[in-house]
Amino acid sequence: MKLKEWLAPIVYLASNWISLIGVVLVTTSGILWLFLLPSTLRGHSPDPYIGILQFMVLPAVFFLGLGLIPAGVWLFKKRNKGKLPDVFPPLDFSNPRFRRLLAFLGATTLANFIIGGQLTYKAVSYMESVNFCGQTCHVVMKPEFTAYQNSPHSRVECVSCHIGPGANWFVKSKISGSWQVISVTLKLYPRPIPTPIENLRPARETCEVCHWPQKFGGDRIRVFNNFSDDEKSKWTKSVLLMHIGGGNGYEGIHGAHMGPGVKVRYAHSDKQRQKIPWVEYTGKDGQTFTFKADGYKADGPGNLDVRTMDCMDCHNRPSHTYELAERGVNRALAAGDLDRDLPYVRKVALEILKAKYATTEDSERDIPAKFKAYYEKNYPQVWASRKAAVESSARNVLAVFSRSVFPEMNVQWGAYPVNLGHTDFDGCFRCHDERPSTKGNRTIPQDCDTCHKTLAQDEESPKVLADLGLDKPRAVGH
Ligand code: HEC
Ligand code: HEC
Ligand code: HEC
Ligand code: HEC
Ligand code: HEC
Repeated sequence: MKLKEWLAPIVYLASNWISLIGVVLVTTSGILWLFLLPSTLRGHSPDPYIGILQFMVLPAVFFLGLGLIPAGVWLFKKRNKGKLPDVFPPLDFSNPRFRRLLAFLGATTLANFIIGGQLTYKAVSYMESVNFCGQTCHVVMKPEFTAYQNSPHSRVECVSCHIGPGANWFVKSKISGSWQVISVTLKLYPRPIPTPIENLRPARETCEVCHWPQKFGGDRIRVFNNFSDDEKSKWTKSVLLMHIGGGNGYEGIHGAHMGPGVKVRYAHSDKQRQKIPWVEYTGKDGQTFTFKADGYKADGPGNLDVRTMDCMDCHNRPSHTYELAERGVNRALAAGDLDRDLPYVRKVALEILKAKYATTEDSERDIPAKFKAYYEKNYPQVWASRKAAVESSARNVLAVFSRSVFPEMNVQWGAYPVNLGHTDFDGCFRCHDERPSTKGNRTIPQDCDTCHKTLAQDEESPKVLADLGLDKPRAVGH
């Protein structure tokens, strides 16, 4: 009698299809969930689809199955008026019902393992790839993906930056990743994708996995190429000695904001963090100073959003660098992609680039055509004798456009401000505008030697480059 009561549930289970389906659902979802676990525990499953699968779909299926089991038993009992079927003892192999149950459970479990293992293994490794991130949400992330491919981080996977290590990140990425997939599917996403991002924003620790503070420091020479809009597109260069600084000290740009114990907090009045009326600086000696922009009356940040400065407040475009048209054209000219022997090439290119194009298709058709038409009409001789140069330059004007403008996502020139520098956007000057501190006699300085020594500014052949032997054309390609 005891035994019979014990085994009754199994008999009930084996005797009705509803409960059996429940069992299948519970085991399938359970096993799939387990298969997904190792990749997600590594903190490395970037993929929102896996997130949805593991944290929404599978649990739903699991609990549905769990519900079906008692429901089936209940229905079965009701139909049989509480009586057990007369197949007993069920543990007897001679009982066909029991044999069927065992075979059924065995086969489904085996199938689960084989199919589940194969599928999840393939899916996880595919979904972790950069291709997946960049291409699955093709239209939506095309701007980020394109800019990324042209950045120094083009070999760093999206997940290395956007998903940090640890449980905290793991949960964050699942929730916001799942939401992203839903919003892409339902086309709820805003265009352009707003920046700065709230979720999945890389943390300082993320960057420091590769760029540990001890590693960078000192000064670094940088050459900026500029061209004018005259007939010859005159080439000038600025040479700056950037005071990178850092290490673990207080010198230079990094040391000033990120040295041990140093903390800079700021309040911003717009979403893109371009307007910063209030700054608080805590130095290495623990003293705190407040700096307020011209016209800002309140003492504290009031109800403005306050942030503690980290790498991304300056390096907000480490891998999605969209250029302004001028900078893109300068780069193409310096690289020889646009032919400087074509009269007014810079001016013409810029005019064409800054016109509006409603779709990528329009830009691909119209930009090269307009460029060619200009020379055909205004410089027939150039067009006749240098057709190949005009045509290849025309293609490269389009390339400048395609790197930074994405009509479908409403990403136009300058949609994503760059905070590093001060010539294209306010950047450093968002704070470095000589604003005074409320106590003590100091400012956030704009003195031109604060951040870089200007070794040459817009010179045709800076002496410093000649001294360093950097003035000769590169051997490659010449
Ligand atoms: C070197 C680190 C790094 C890598 C690698 C990286 N990102 Fe980003 N990404 C960032 C930072 C930093 C931001 C801007 C954060 C901010 O200002 O809030 C950002 C912003 C974004 C945004 C928000 C829109 C925008 O442009 O501000 C999207 C979408 C995005 N990244 C997608 C990707 C994709 C897709 C990949 C891989 C193809 C990728 N990211 C690779 C660092 C990275
Ligand atoms: C997985 C490793 C990795 C991570 C994570 C990473 N980077 Fe990088 N970063 C690189 C590599 C590799 C380069 C290229 C170095 C080179 O070209 O010499 C680079 C280059 C850079 C440069 C120099 C670009 C230049 O013009 O020379 C900056 C600035 C930079 N990273 C900032 C960041 C920031 C900010 C983050 C965090 C959002 C970050 N990186 C995250 C590996 C990484
Ligand atoms: C106050 C703004 C600011 C902050 C904060 C900041 N950086 Fe920088 N960083 C700069 C500037 C400016 C440069 C020089 C850019 C140039 O050469 O044009 C630079 C250069 C770099 C370089 C290239 C160094 C080299 O020698 O070429 C790396 C790598 C880098 N930063 C990483 C980081 C990381 C990681 C963090 C966070 C721990 C960080 N930065 C925080 C402004 C900042
Ligand atoms: C959020 C505000 C803010 C931004 C943005 C900012 N800084 Fe600063 N910076 C400060 C504050 C505050 C100080 C400390 C001023 C003081 O010592 O009184 C400072 C100090 C410095 C110093 C040291 C100055 C000295 O005389 O010792 C350098 C160098 C510097 N910043 C470079 C930069 C560069 C380069 C950028 C842009 C890439 C930048 N800063 C962006 C707030 C900012
Ligand atoms: C708070 C720091 C800071 C101060 C102060 C500062 N600069 Fe700069 N400047 C930078 C940074 C950072 C860059 C490099 C931007 C980049 O990497 O693209 C830069 C770039 C430049 C460039 C080259 C830009 C280009 O695209 O051709 C020039 C020229 C320049 N600065 C001139 C000046 C002059 C003139 C002053 C004085 C009014 C000044 N800077 C003050 C941080 C500063």
